[in-house]
Amino acid sequence: MANEPRFVPLRFARLSENEQLARSRAFLKQMRARRTVRDFSPEPVAAELIENAIATAGTAPSGAHQQPWTFVAVSDPELKRRIRNAAEEEERRSYEGRMPDEWLEALRRLGTDWRKPHIEHAPYLVVVFEQAYGLRTDGTKIKHYYVRESVGIAVGLLLASLHQAGLATLTHTPSPMGFLREILARPENERPYVLIPVGYPAAGAAVPDLGRKALDEILVRT
Ligand SMILES: Cc1cc2nc3c(=O)[nH]c(=O)nc-3n(C[C@H](O)[C@H](O)[C@H](O)COP(=O)(O)O)c2cc1C
Repeated sequence: MANEPRFVPLRFARLSENEQLARSRAFLKQMRARRTVRDFSPEPVAAELIENAIATAGTAPSGAHQQPWTFVAVSDPELKRRIRNAAEEEERRSYEGRMPDEWLEALRRLGTDWRKPHIEHAPYLVVVFEQAYGLRTDGTKIKHYYVRESVGIAVGLLLASLHQAGLATLTHTPSPMGFLREILARPENERPYVLIPVGYPAAGAAVPDLGRKALDEILVRT
């Protein structure tokens, strides 16, 4: 039977305590420097950096190991232009009426508006789709479990990999995002999850002056 459990020995490298601490501190320091960038240079990015990040995302745990994700790496200028135009159309409607005041107030300190030039300026867009269900070759559906959780974890690994590779990212959720499925011609079981412009920051790029919660605010020791 195809689904019978089958086991192989675990490959696990046990590190010395010193090595563990050194690696964990270095990773934390690196990740603390990650910032969302909204102003990109058009400078090209090596395709392998994008591919390695997507392969890293593909190592994420997923509900029932269904790996319910698809990553589309867009570098074609015409596709980027169409995505920018569609995103700006939705964002303009959101900012100019669809978003309640409370939401606009929460966004105020980020200084964002409906304009999204970075979608065209960034050399790559990684568009992440969640597979709401799977499709067998005969067209019947396969139920997927914990899709949103699984894709969220994969996107976290993707962002960490891109940051570690010295690239900048924007986690962007133009709402609603249905246009991404149409423009990128994805099948009916795939739903847009997030749009991630990737590249180098533009010279002189600035970011909102934000702090992060301290460890004691997010960690409960019992
Ligand atoms: C699920 C999610 C959706 C987001 N959507 C947007 C967005 O549509 N536009 C945007 O400019 N930033 C977006 N962001 C980025 C956040 O505003 C940003 O992560 C936050 O302000 C903290 O800044 P930092 O990433 O530099 O630490 C989003 C982040 C997440 C996690």
